Amino acid sequence: MVGKLTIRDGKREVPNHLTIPFIEGDGIGKDIWFAAQKVIDKAVDKAYDGRRSIEWKEVLAGEKAVQTCGLSLPDETLATIKEYLIAIKGPLGTPVGKGHRSLNVALRQELDLYACVRPIRYFDGVPSPLKEPEKTKVTIFRENTEDIYAGIEWQAGTDEVAKVLSFLKEEMGVEKIRFPETSSIGVKPISEQGSKRLVRAAIDYALENSLQTVTLVHKGNIQKFTEGGFCKWGYELAQAEYPVQLASGDLIVNDIIADNFLQQILLAPEKFQVVALTNLNGDYASDALAAQVGGIGIAPGANINYQTGHAIFEATHGTAPDIAGKNRANPSSLLLSAVMLLEYIGWKEAADEIVRALECAFSSKVFTIDLAQPSQVKAKTTSEFVDYLIEAIEFLD
Ligand code: NAI
Repeated sequence: MVGKLTIRDGKREVPNHLTIPFIEGDGIGKDIWFAAQKVIDKAVDKAYDGRRSIEWKEVLAGEKAVQTCGLSLPDETLATIKEYLIAIKGPLGTPVGKGHRSLNVALRQELDLYACVRPIRYFDGVPSPLKEPEKTKVTIFRENTEDIYAGIEWQAGTDEVAKVLSFLKEEMGVEKIRFPETSSIGVKPISEQGSKRLVRAAIDYALENSLQTVTLVHKGNIQKFTEGGFCKWGYELAQAEYPVQLASGDLIVNDIIADNFLQQILLAPEKFQVVALTNLNGDYASDALAAQVGGIGIAPGANINYQTGHAIFEATHGTAPDIAGKNRANPSSLLLSAVMLLEYIGWKEAADEIVRALECAFSSKVFTIDLAQPSQVKAKTTSEFVDYLIEAIEFLD
């Protein structure tokens, strides 16, 4: 019988025939979703020979939702994802109809998906700007709900900013604002709970995957209470909840200032295994690290709430309007997000099938246009690339 993922006593219970909601996505979403779906189904079939399967359930968001019901993120979509706990999605453009400003942010906020998880690894054969790209193997845990992303800011010259400036000056004694007449002001909330739940997720991931080092990346030398708080609460959490692992050496927690981190990931990326970052630092670091191993076309991501079990797995690139509908897009980011999903539900064998097929394609320089151009080889179309992957899954032992 087909069923849905549930959480009981903090543990995921996964039926063998599982329904998973998907959002096709805008732009190249159409090109890559159905291509990726074929590969995922093939991998599950090969790994479990019919004992396990996925029933895909489409939920609407973005342009398709606007065309169907006039809303970019219908309540039904959110309700379905809430009910089924997990979903996978293609990229979504900025909405054209009524509704949310950013659909991705709305989904993250509605489901409180506090950890943005991005595993970064190099695939042999992929063009990279680094001499030794294989040394970059790091999983990013970016805090997803706080920081300047809370969107609390006031524009220069407005009555609102005048009120805030007067409060800062009159009541808080702030004299340090260099040009008050022309300043916009933003607020950066970073909390103990928000920091601790993110660092806990990063440490649990490290321990589950036998990775020793979790690095807290922050700018606490300048922003003492926000970025510094993130680092301090991270250490406190580690000492309070993982004393045995710290004492045995199974776990090492250290920290690094964010600007030095961006330098070190180029000079000595092998120093890092799992990194935990505040929201904005995590944003910069994710793209920088993805670029080191071949760019956004192959970088996967997931937004997860480890307490409720809600998780959305997604391609990290955008809708690529320049190549949409042309059968040229790279489905690998979405496929590697599916790998994360399969690992999340414990279907590791199926995840490995996809990874091995991609390894085979990349090492043979079988590339879509984004990777073919810098490698100076002839590009495969999306469908040709996917056919290659399906054949690789069929024939690889
Ligand atoms: P983009 O990622 O769509 O495109 C940047 C460049 O990368 C383009 O040249 C594009 O052709 C190429 N590219 C992206 N994905 C590719 C793939 N899978 N295969 C081959 N080439 C690929 O970024 P852009 O142009 O800034 O954003 C376009 C739209 O996407 C905007 O509406 C933006 O809001 C949205 N967006 C959505 C995201 C999401 O849903 N997670 C993330 C980033 C942007």
